[in-house]
Amino acid sequence: MNQYIIRGGSPLFGEVTVSGAKNAAVAIIPAALLVDGVCRIENVPQISDVTLFFSILEELGAKVRLLNRHAVEIDARAIRSTRPSYELARRIRASYYLLGSLLGRFGRAAVAMPGGCNFGVRPIDLHVKGFTAMGARVTEGGFIEAEAENGRLHGANIYMDQVSVGATMNVMMAAVLADGMTTIDNAAKEPHIVDLANFLNSMGADIKGAGTDSIRIRGVERLTGGTYCIIPDQIEAGTYMAAVAAAGGQVLLKNVIPKHMECISSKLVEMGVSVTEQDDTLLVRRSQPLRRTNVKTLPYPGFPTDMQPQITVVLSLAEGTSIVTEGVWDNRFKYVDELKRLGARVQVDGKVAVIEGVDHLEGAPIKACDLRAGAALVIAGLAAGGTTTLENVHYIERGYEDMVGKLRALGADIRVVDVPEEPRQDSRIG
Ligand code: EPZ
Repeated sequence: MNQYIIRGGSPLFGEVTVSGAKNAAVAIIPAALLVDGVCRIENVPQISDVTLFFSILEELGAKVRLLNRHAVEIDARAIRSTRPSYELARRIRASYYLLGSLLGRFGRAAVAMPGGCNFGVRPIDLHVKGFTAMGARVTEGGFIEAEAENGRLHGANIYMDQVSVGATMNVMMAAVLADGMTTIDNAAKEPHIVDLANFLNSMGADIKGAGTDSIRIRGVERLTGGTYCIIPDQIEAGTYMAAVAAAGGQVLLKNVIPKHMECISSKLVEMGVSVTEQDDTLLVRRSQPLRRTNVKTLPYPGFPTDMQPQITVVLSLAEGTSIVTEGVWDNRFKYVDELKRLGARVQVDGKVAVIEGVDHLEGAPIKACDLRAGAALVIAGLAAGGTTTLENVHYIERGYEDMVGKLRALGADIRVVDVPEEPRQDSRIG
């Protein structure tokens, strides 16, 4: 299993190019199944979740042709199955998007209950509510099975009981080929929601209002194909901004959309970090002590929950006491126990973390428990004195393209080592 060895304590200097957005790519790639033609997708991030989706699409009968490291051509005209294999689908949280795209195109789908990060219950009742309203019969077990009563979904008015990125995207996909108009109210407004809508419209769909809390989708007969370029990753960019804030230094982030970064930039500026916008770049600099502040994570345009672990690490080094409230997930502070092994002073009570800033962290052996927590612990290792060994880095490789390479280009002393897995101890006696 790969581990990262990080010798921290040095500031970061240089340039980093942000990759395509993971949470857009893991929706747009399954959405290609809706296209009765050829679609070319550019700025695709090179991450394991994407590679896994390519395998799933090929297994269903799509032709997937890599044009280069970041571009792919998908031809879904000859799909021969609507049941992705249990083994592949259960390894990725976003596999539920296969429901919306297969149900929307073929009127039926059966997808393994999703796996993914372990920070609390991750229900899909709002996805099911949307499909049911559009005329699908849905049964849930090891697989989620869905079938449109008359072979094709019909339009519906759907109100989301709470803001859900996944349910908004999934219902949007199911609706683009449905018979009639679908409205999604109390919709999620994240940048990747708009990106999916723009992708589908570039393939021939008719979606209006994405990015607001009310989206209208007029069903069309077929999507004919086209070319689309995925937006830059707001969370990857924010992660590198947090790394500069924690470790110090000056870094130019390239290929960003500053508007998407406002919720993150403004919080870092509150803490004494300098952020200078210019077209599609952000210059981030931290040379003075960090100031405390409070953060509450909320759906976009609020401070993103996927930046919660990273900002908590930065606040653990700020002067004074800060409070971080997790407003989206039930249990997204599991990583704090690992952060405390580096000397951080954090008390967690449910969805609230109280952070008493310390003037330095000290390296130690720690473990990642999910994607964003893993990235946050890398940031902690970069800021800490001494050496930090981080295990379970496969979580990080699901969603960050070449994090080690990008950090080394900024002067970080970080390397990957492959440590053979411990042979499982035979627990039987005798
Ligand atoms: C997406 O997850 C992201 N994953 C998550 O990012 C992100 O944390 C989350 O959106 C919020 O922004 C992908 O895009 C693949 P939700 P998703 O549906 O869609 C509740 C990362 O690090 N809910 O917006 O699963 C749910 O329990 C990952 O990249 C229901 O109750 O999140 C949560 O409290 C981690 N019923 C809230 O809504 C439902 O049917 C928001 O969940 C669906 C969700």
